[in-house]
Amino acid sequence: MPLILGIDVGTSGTKVIITDEDGSIVASATETYPLRTPRPNWAEQDPRDWWAATVAAIRGACGSGGVKAADIGCVGLTGQMHGLVLLDEEGEVLRPAILWCDQRTAEECRWITGAVGGAARLRELTCNPALTGFTAPKVIWVRGHEPGLYGKIRKILLPKDYIRFKLTGEYATDVSDASGTLLFDVKNRRWSRDVLNTLGIPEDWLPRCYESPEVTGRVTREAARETGLAEGTLVVGGGGDQAAGAVGSGIVKPGAISVTVGTSGVVFAYMDEPALDAEGRLHTFCHAVPGKWHAMGVTLGAGGSMRWFRDTLCEAEVAVGRCAGVDPYELITEEAAQAEPGCEGLVFLPYVAGERTPYPDPNARGVFFGLSLRHTKAHMARAVMEGVAFSLRDCLELVKALGVSMGEVRVSGGGARSALWRQIIADVFGAPLVTPKVTEGPAYGAALLAGVGIGVYGSVVEACEKTIKPAGVTEPNPPVVALYEECYGLYQALYPQLKPTFDQAAEIVSRRR
Ligand code: XUL
Repeated sequence: MPLILGIDVGTSGTKVIITDEDGSIVASATETYPLRTPRPNWAEQDPRDWWAATVAAIRGACGSGGVKAADIGCVGLTGQMHGLVLLDEEGEVLRPAILWCDQRTAEECRWITGAVGGAARLRELTCNPALTGFTAPKVIWVRGHEPGLYGKIRKILLPKDYIRFKLTGEYATDVSDASGTLLFDVKNRRWSRDVLNTLGIPEDWLPRCYESPEVTGRVTREAARETGLAEGTLVVGGGGDQAAGAVGSGIVKPGAISVTVGTSGVVFAYMDEPALDAEGRLHTFCHAVPGKWHAMGVTLGAGGSMRWFRDTLCEAEVAVGRCAGVDPYELITEEAAQAEPGCEGLVFLPYVAGERTPYPDPNARGVFFGLSLRHTKAHMARAVMEGVAFSLRDCLELVKALGVSMGEVRVSGGGARSALWRQIIADVFGAPLVTPKVTEGPAYGAALLAGVGIGVYGSVVEACEKTIKPAGVTEPNPPVVALYEECYGLYQALYPQLKPTFDQAAEIVSRRR
C-alpha cells in the first residue's frame, strides 16, 4: 500500500506528515516562517517562504522516517484560508500574500456589500457576508491602493493552492477553501459569475475548482527535483484548514461538532444542506466531504491571545522554560491553575486581533475587565483561557441556533493540549469534550483526503471511520458550569457596551498615523 503525504501551510509554519494506510503517522516535520505586520491591522507573508518551508519539511519528514519518495502515492494539501496570493503572467509572486487575519479592508467590505445590492443579496449569492478576512475585499484593496500592480495580475490563488501550483504547475483549488473567498456560490459549489461580474474581477484569474478528494494534478519534474518526491505523484484538491481539520477529527456526519484552539478558535458543525445565520455571524462553507456543507464560527484571537500573553507578560516563564527545557506554556498553565474559576471577577475579551464571530469588527480590541489589587498574573493567565472559552461559547450558541444537532464535541489544536484549557472549555460549554487519538488536525485530514483520492478509502466517511479513534474525554464539572454560566453573562454584556469606545480608539489611532 502506498504512503500518503499531508501538507498544512499554516500561519506559523508548514507541517508535513506521512501516514500509512491504517492512518498511523510514519513521519512528520515542521518548518516555520515569519508573519509580518508592516502596519497596524496588516498581516502578510511571502508565499516563497511557504514554498521553501514546504520543500524543507517534505525532505525533513522523508529523511526522518526513512521514507522512499517512490513509496508516496499521493499528496493532500491544506492551509490557512482566505489569504490572497497574486501571480503575474510568468506565475511569479507579485506582492506579499495578504492573510486571513489582516484587517485592512473594512472600507472594501462596505463597498462590496453595496455593489452587489446589500447584505441579503450577498448572502443569497455566496451564503456569507463581506468580512475583512475574506479574499475578495483584499483584491479590491489592491485595485484601489496598488493599481500598477493590479494591472499585472493574471492569477489569484489561496495559500495551499500556491503550493499546489509549485508542485504541479496547475492552477486549482477546492470547494471548501474557495468558499472563503466571497467569490464563490457556496450553494451550487462553483465560482459566482454574478459576484465576479459585479466586482469586475475576471473569471480567468481564478483557479479551477474541485471537490476535496479529487485529483488535481501530478508533481512536475522540477518540483520532484526540489522536494525529492517522485515525478508524477498525484496531488488531490485537499481543503481549507478548517474543513480538512474537521475531516482529521472525524466531523463528517450529522451531529458532529468540533472545537479547535489554534491561533484562531473555531466551532465547526457538519451540515447536509447549507443553513445560514440570519445575521451572517457564522460562515456557511462547502465541506471537504463531497456534496456537503458546514457552518463555523471563528474567534480570531484564541491561541493568538495566549501567545500575546506569553510574549508580552511572561518573560520569566520563557527564560525558565528555556533553561529547564520546558515549554513556557506549561509554566503559564501551572500558574493559571492556581487561580480559581471565574478569576474573582476578572474577565478577558480576546479581541486582540479584532473579531469575526459573533462581532465582525476590526476595531474590537482585547480587554482585561475588573482588575483589582488582589489580582495576580495567575488570574490574568486563567482569564485569557476563560475569555477564549467564552468567545468559543458565543460561536457554539450561534451554531445551536441554526438547528444543528449537537452530538459529540471533539476538541483539537495546540491550545487543546492543555488539560486545564480543555477543562475550562468543557465547563463553559457544559458538555463533555472528546480528544481524538491523532491530533494532527488539518495535515491529517489532508492525508485522509489524499487517501480517498487514490482509492485507499472508499469515501471520506469511511476514511474517518477506519482511522479516527477517541483518546480521552474531559467531563464538565457541574458547580463550575453553574459559575461560568454567570461569568458568561458578564462577558456577553461587555462588548456591546464597549463597542462605541473601540471605534473611538480606532479613530484616535488612525488620526495619529
Ligand atoms: C478560517 C480562518 C482561520 C484560518 C487560519 O475562516 O480564517 O482559521 O484559516 O487558520
